[in-house]
Parts: sequence; C-alpha cells; structure tokens
Amino acid sequence: MKLADNKATLSFSNGSPNVELPVYHGSVGPDVIDIRKLYAQTGMFTYDPGFLSTAACQSAITYIDGDKGELQYRGYPIEQLATQCDFLETCHLLLYGELPNADAKKKFERTVTMHTMVNEQMQFFLRGFRRDAHPMAVLTGLVGALSAFYHDSTDITNPQHREIAAIRLIAKMPTLVAMAYKYSVGQPYMYPQNDLSYTGNFMRMMFATPCEDYKPNEVLVRALDRIFILHADHEQNASTSTVRLCGSSGTNPFAAIAAGVACLWGPAHGGANEAALNMLHDIQAQGGVEKVGEFIKQVKDKNSGVKLMGFGHRVYKNYDPRAKLMQETCKEVLGELGLHNDPLFKLAMALEKIALEDEYFVSRKLYPNVDFYSGIVQRAIGIPVSLFTAIFAAARTVGWIAQLNEMIGDPEYKIGRPRQLFTGSTRRDIKPLAKR
Ligand code: ACO
Repeated sequence: MKLADNKATLSFSNGSPNVELPVYHGSVGPDVIDIRKLYAQTGMFTYDPGFLSTAACQSAITYIDGDKGELQYRGYPIEQLATQCDFLETCHLLLYGELPNADAKKKFERTVTMHTMVNEQMQFFLRGFRRDAHPMAVLTGLVGALSAFYHDSTDITNPQHREIAAIRLIAKMPTLVAMAYKYSVGQPYMYPQNDLSYTGNFMRMMFATPCEDYKPNEVLVRALDRIFILHADHEQNASTSTVRLCGSSGTNPFAAIAAGVACLWGPAHGGANEAALNMLHDIQAQGGVEKVGEFIKQVKDKNSGVKLMGFGHRVYKNYDPRAKLMQETCKEVLGELGLHNDPLFKLAMALEKIALEDEYFVSRKLYPNVDFYSGIVQRAIGIPVSLFTAIFAAARTVGWIAQLNEMIGDPEYKIGRPRQLFTGSTRRDIKPLAKR
C-alpha cells in the first residue's frame, strides 16, 4: 500500500484538537484511512459493527468491484478463469500469485493428487457421528480433527508446514466431503483414484460404489469444476475473516479452516445455496411459477421474515458475475441431462425476472448472487441439497488458506482483537445471596 499525498482530518464539535490521519492507496479500489493510532491520540475507538466501512487487512489476492459487478483473482477476471482455466490452476494462482505454466501445472496436480487420501483412522472418527447428522456438522468436526492426524504440519510460523498444510487441505477436502456423504447414505467410502482429475475424482468418490464404477461425464465434471472456481475466494467475506481472526492467534491451519467451515454454514453466507433450493422447492410445492407473485409479496413484507434466498450481497450492488456464469452452466448441465424443462430452473428464472423489475429489489440494488443457480446445477448433477454448503467449503478452502498464509507473511500482522462500546452495568458490588 502507498501513502497518499492527502490526509484525513478528524474534527470534534467539543473543541478537542483536530487529528490528522494518514490515507493509503491500494492498486485499485477505495483508499483507506489509517486509524491505528486513533485510540492513542484521542482515547476513542471507531464503531463499525458488521465491518461496513472497515478494511481489516491489506490483501493482494482477490478484488471485487461491487458496483460494476466485477470479480478478479490476482487480477484475472473471473469470466476468463471460469472459461479458460481449471480449478487446480486457479488454486495455484490463489496460493502462489501466478497461473502455472504447463510444467508447474503438472507438478502441482501431481502434488495435490498424492495427498487426496486421508489417514485411515479418520473413518473411525467419522463413525462416531449419527448417520443423519448434517454434513456441515460432520465436516466441521472432520476438518478440525485433521490437526490431530497431521501433527507435522501444524506450526503456522514454519513456511514448510504452511505449504504442506495448504496442499493437504486442498487435496483432502473433497475426500472428506465424499466420505461424509457416503456415511450419510450408508455406502462404503470410495478411495481416491489418482488417474482422475481433481473434480472427476471427487465425483467418482461421491457416486461410484465398490460394485459399480462411475465414469464421470465431462460436461458435469466441467460444471462442478466451474462451481469450484467460482467459489474459490471472495476477499474478506465472513468465513475468510473468521479464518484470519482464528489464525491470528497462531493456531494451526486445520483449526483455522475448521472455524471457516463453521462460519460458512450460516444461511446468510454459504448456507444460502441450500436455503435457496429449499425455497424453490417450497414455492414449487405451493403451485410453482403461478405463486411467484405471492411469494415476492411476502419477501417485501418486513414482518414476514421471508427473504429471497440467493439474492442480495454485502458487496455486489450489481449482478454478481458468478451468478451469470452459474446461469450459463445451469443451462449446459440441464441440456446435457435432457432436463431443459426443469421446473425449478423455470421457477428460478421467473423469480429473477420479477425481482429484477420490482421497485423493492431495484431500489435496494438486490441482484441474484452465486447461490441462486448453483443449487439447481448441483441438484441436477445428483448432489443432495444438504451437501451443497460442504461443496462450497471444499471450493473455498484454497481461498481461506491463501488468505491465512498471506496474513501470516504480512509484517503488519497482529492478533485480531476488536474493541467495543460498552453499554452494560457500571461497577457494582455483589449482595449476599439472601439479599438479592
Ligand atoms: N430478500 C429480501 N430483502 C433483502 C434481501 C433478500 N435476499 N437481501 C437484502 N434485503 C433487503 C434488506 O431487508 C434491507 O432492506 P431495508 O433497507 O429496507 O432494511 C436491504 O435489502 C439491505 O440489506 P442488508 O440485510 O442490510 O444487507 P447486508 O449487506 O447486511 O446483507 C446479505 C447481505 C446477508 C447477503 C443479504 O442480502 C441476505 O440475507 N441475502 C439472502 C441470503 C443469501 O443469498 N446469502 C448469500 C450471500 S453470497 C454468499 O455468501 C456466497
């Protein structure tokens, strides 16, 4: 970051002296006002619940222009990455800063592939869960447990440990997600197969059984690979910030990523894909496209508590570029599977059309986000709804780990420790039990 020529001046109506604050430029995007010395200079904190105006770090990984609806990983537009690269190339880019050349690509693929198996003992750990447990409950536990299985890569201050933990996490997440799925349906786990691609391998671990092999369909592999690319990173979102905050205490990478998985689960974040598909199912059950008007009316009624899931975003005040790519993929997948008339897709299109024309959504700049169509694609591929967020977690792992490693390497990194505006009781004394 570069110090700007201009400074910000903070003045107070009570006559306290003005405070000058440095301003920094990034390479693109809004400047930041450096308030790190504000408390020392004024005895005051800033107040920004939800981080509406606060940059908590500097980062060179992902850039979003929410007004224009643009997303770039390391400078490359998401549209180019989604159409010209695969997920592992994207992982290489996010982790190391550059797309791999042909040799580096081969080497990286080989390294990741050689780490896809998980310690055999993990399956006994998994067996402790109820079969009907939510996959995200299971995944949070499994990822946290990795630190108990891979002691040799838990020192976050050691660059070799960070490197091997990154590869292990990227390689093993799909295996863990598939294991959680197989466990929930009572089928044997399928071991990874090294001659398949990252995504093809995941699909095989999901859908093959020991008595019937599964040949991944290339169109579906490409679609899921695109889902992985589109979800790989999204700058300082809630789960990434959770990973950074958790990792800032010096905890091991597996523990920090487990915290990210837990945060992602919420319906306002990664859980929205599951919630969006459940919403479509509910509307479909009540009469489908004809009920869209009624549903939108409920969404607009603040007392109903109903939200249009898969719509709206803290940063995008325009069409989420990932939603556009997802809609394309959705058409391709439904076409490949002969599901051109899929009622849920038609319903989603109808909802989108009405919402995009409705004053409520227009005035609040609410557009479809990536989750609006990704559920339809995943469902068509055969992935159960309850597993959608786990797939998102597998894809986002590379982003989390790239951001965590960037933070550890940042000389300005400190333990994350927000302050507060205290509104509770002032000091008081305890009365004896009989007098309370
Ligand atoms: N349906 C109906 N109204 C909405 C929606 C929605 N999906 N999203 C926002 N609004 C309304 C809010 O009620 C608010 O209205 P008001 O100004 O009258 O009070 C206004 O739009 C602004 O919304 P906020 O909640 O203040 O926006 P915020 O940035 O805090 O929240 C969020 C963003 C959480 C994503 C929100 O839009 C939402 O809940 N969307 C549905 C869930 C979803 O799809 N999440 C996925 C996000 S993308 C991702 O994580 C991969």
